[in-house]
Parts: sequence; C-alpha cells; structure tokens
Amino acid sequence: MRTTAAVAVEPGKPLEIMEVNLELPKAGEVLVEIKATGICHTDEFTRSGANKGGNFPVILGHEGAGVVVAVGENVSTLKPGDHVIPLYAPECRQCHACTTGKTNMCTAIRRNQDKGLLPDGTTRFSMLDGTPIHHYMGCSTFANHTVVAEISLAKIRKDAPFDKICYVGCGVTTGVGAVINTAGVEVGSTTAVFGLGGIGLNVIQGLRMAGADMIIGVDLNNDKREIAEKFGMTHFVNPAELDGQSVSEAIIEMSKTEEDDWGGVDYTFESTGNVHVMEEALKAAHRGWGESIVIGVPPSGQKLAAEPIQLLTGRVWKGTSFGGVRGRTEVPKYVDWYMDGKIEIDSMITHIMPLEDINKAFDLMHAGESIRSVVTFE
Ligand code: APR
Ligand code: ZN
Repeated sequence: MRTTAAVAVEPGKPLEIMEVNLELPKAGEVLVEIKATGICHTDEFTRSGANKGGNFPVILGHEGAGVVVAVGENVSTLKPGDHVIPLYAPECRQCHACTTGKTNMCTAIRRNQDKGLLPDGTTRFSMLDGTPIHHYMGCSTFANHTVVAEISLAKIRKDAPFDKICYVGCGVTTGVGAVINTAGVEVGSTTAVFGLGGIGLNVIQGLRMAGADMIIGVDLNNDKREIAEKFGMTHFVNPAELDGQSVSEAIIEMSKTEEDDWGGVDYTFESTGNVHVMEEALKAAHRGWGESIVIGVPPSGQKLAAEPIQLLTGRVWKGTSFGGVRGRTEVPKYVDWYMDGKIEIDSMITHIMPLEDINKAFDLMHAGESIRSVVTFE
C-alpha cells in the first residue's frame, strides 16, 4: 500500500512530506493507522544529526496513537479496530529483562530497533523509487500508517481522544513514571524538578499525585513559572537570578527546617538534558538518603561528573527510560488516569497542526514557544 509520511532524508534537513510504500505486516506485526502524534525532543535529537546512532532516511516519531487496520500471522492480542499507543519501549513478557520483573528495558527486539529495522531485520517502508526507509524507535509515527511489532503496542480504551493521549506515548509517562515507578516517591516528600518543559511538568504532576509536600521547580525561563504552579509546583528557582549561589545551595537552604538544619530534598529530577544540571540535581538531594533521577538525554558522548563523596554519603543517582513503565501492562492505566481527570494533558498540547506543517513544530520547539505540538491526521 501507499501512505503519506514526513521523511527525514538526511540529518540536519527539514522533513519532506511524501508518498511512501508500506508493505503489509508480517508475522508478529501490526498495521496501524496513526491518528495523532506528538513531536518530542528525541525526534529532534535524531533529525538534527546530534544522535550519532541515527539511521537515514528514516520516518521519525515515537509519541503516537491510532487504530489497528490489519494484523500479521501469529498476532493474538490485537485485532482490527483496536485503539493502540505504539511503544518505543516494547514489552515481550518473555525475555530475561521482562521476566526479572525489575525493569521495563525489554531486550527482545532492541538490537534491530536501534538499527531502524523491524524485529526480523528488514523495513516495511520504502520510497517510491524503492529506496528503503528506516523505522524509528520501533514506532515511526510521522506517517499516516505504520507497521509495528505486536509487543510494541499498548491496547487502550476506545473513548480516549487521540490528539491528547498520544502524549502518553512518551512525555506524560516518562515524567509521571519517573516519580511513581523509578523514584517511588512517598507522601510528604520534599522534591525538586530541574527543567519545567514537556517532561518536567509531567514530573510535577506525578509528584502532586504521589502527595509530595514541597515541589521546587528550577528553570532559566521565568515564563514557565505560571504553568508549573498550575501543575503543582510550590516553590520556584531561576538559576540566573541567584547572585553567586549555586542552585543546589539554594535548594539546600530552602529545604532546611527546625528539625533538619542540614537541608537537601528527598528526591530530585533532572529534565533539561544538561550534564552540569545533573550534577547540581545530585548535590541538591539530601545527604544520607536523597535520590536524584536522570531523565533528560544529553548530546551523544557527554559524561557525568560528580565528587564520589556525594554518593559515599548516601545519595543515590538513578536513570530512567519511559518512566520505568512496562508499556503494554501500564500504559492503558495512564490513559484511564487521563480520562478520570487524575492526569492533566490538554493544557500541555499548545499547538495542533496537519502533517504538512510538521517542520513548524520543530521551529516552535527551538523557540521555546511550545510545550507539545501534535500532528493530527484526517
Ligand atoms: N537550568 C534550568 N533549566 C534549564 C536549563 C538549565 N541549565 N537549561 C534548560 N532549562 C529549561 C528550559 O528553559 C526548558 O523550560 O529546561 C526546560 C526543557 O524543556 P523542553 O525544552 O520542553 O524539553 P523537554 O521536552 O521537557 O525535554 C527535556 O529531556 O530528553 C531530553 O532532549 C530532551 O533535553 C531535553 C530534556
Ligand atoms: Zn522483554
């Protein structure tokens, strides 16, 4: 069949809207009609060429929602008409990683997924001249139709609006999951969130759900303050307005109490993707037990630095991918939380556009004007 897609032909160039060939799903694969897709920094990371592991040409996009059109052989958990969210973190429930119960980092199809291929090592997309087009993160949602592995699809309820719940495919789940799954924040915790963008706001709403008492937001942009407060932020720090003090020192001061003259917060979350901010986030975690969760993705090759004494005195440095969420099992619950009003999404979707305008979404991201842009298909 043919479908319309935004193709990243070469790194650093705008996406090109074109008709492409799409083969029908093979064994264990599913054809999905994408109804809506968010545009995330990770797409830009690859489009720009900053991701040294990028494969081109490629159809980017990993934050989508749609409807199953057809299934290949041996597909038992999905049927045409089912509503789905593609998962860049699949869940096979059989590999060693899945069966440990300790992680969401399923390894079943990882190697081929990182090469831009489906699990059998081939692609279903090609240009009309026959040039193969790579898949992206096992999803490729910047296309009206895509083929995805069965284990990379979460089946969701049918009454949820695609143009909102597509955001559950990455940003919402990454932020809320980092709080609930990765950190396991307890009621009454003190916390700090570095970077109040599309990820950080979701960390904040996760902290509110978890019952954190103090939620300190850190951002260089004062314009982020108002919306972060709506999501539950209780205190704000702009590192550029600190007068010589470091952000970690400021947070330590703010969190001192009568009983605790040491200061530092129980949990910190880094969602800027800046390695220096990651070190500040570690230092702001409380001596003895504070945990710092790394969520942002820095440019390829950059290294973290911290004095070992930070860890020797009991701080914990942790990373998280997709919020530690097992997609097929837990993503339907996130959609329920949205439908039940426990998670807010609507106010974070700042721009909606057709596929033809997708390059504008990258411009808005660079200008810091959007929280999330979403492309919808007719
Ligand atoms: N200190 C504090 N805040 C900062 C800093 C800094 N040094 N640098 C950037 N910020 C703020 C920005 O002002 C912005 O509000 O961090 C926020 C980042 O938000 P977005 O640009 O919306 O990015 P988001 O989608 O949330 O992703 C966060 O995770 O995976 C990575 O590449 C992604 O780096 C990005 C990060
Ligand atoms: Zn697995």
